[in-house]
Amino acid sequence: MMNLTLKIWRQKNASDKGKMVDYPLSGISPDMSFLEMLDVLNQELIGKGEEPVAFDHDCREGICGTCSLYINGRAHGPATKITACQLHMRSFKDGDTIYIEPWRAEAFPVVKDLIVDRSSFDRIQQAGGFISVNTSGNTQDANAIPIEKENADKAFDAATCIGCGACVASCKNSSAMLFVSAKVSQFALLPQGQVEATDRVLNMVKQMDEEGFGNCTNTGACEVECPKGISLENIARMNREYLSASLKG
Ligand code: SF4
Ligand code: FES
Repeated sequence: MMNLTLKIWRQKNASDKGKMVDYPLSGISPDMSFLEMLDVLNQELIGKGEEPVAFDHDCREGICGTCSLYINGRAHGPATKITACQLHMRSFKDGDTIYIEPWRAEAFPVVKDLIVDRSSFDRIQQAGGFISVNTSGNTQDANAIPIEKENADKAFDAATCIGCGACVASCKNSSAMLFVSAKVSQFALLPQGQVEATDRVLNMVKQMDEEGFGNCTNTGACEVECPKGISLENIARMNREYLSASLKG
């Protein structure tokens, strides 16, 4: 069993200044997940009549992208290619001090404690992250359209982005380029995505800029911290898509 000191960001609401608060926690099993460890803390806090720590989670299996925790200065913690909910306490040692903070980015304002508002990502998606489907009765079976294996694989890899925002949180410029480029690439590589290709990239980039995300300076921290291993190659593809769409427009 492990004894830990947690230093957790507490912030009552969006306008509260917020501060780090120390919580000693004992009896933690190395087999617990990181979120189960926070559940134990919250159970203790509730038992003492104190306000539990607010944190986001849903699937707890690396799919939904909501568990946006900055742990010991890294998005999703010390392990690579996993989300905070997939992190286990065996990644830490007995006696460790663990710093837990929310994502920090102007476009992700803190709602409460460790929860941030990532609706800026939703608005970027709504600006172009979709395809039109012909529902006239002539709809072609998707499997009848030949697609090169290499493109199908790359499109699938891009589609694994879970919209967690770790790329933004780990970027010194709070750039959302990796996220947006994954969403653009997912369609740019497939015939189904060609109908709206020009509008898609222009509108999604415009929305990204309006939301207050910073510029990309090719630092590459996003790729390192992305739990799904989304490649920087997608950013290069989006830049090409953007240039050719601008020339058409
Ligand atoms: S690109 Fe990676 S880090 Fe960024 S939102 Fe998608 S899955 Fe998360
Ligand atoms: S809770 Fe869904 S990805 Fe972590």
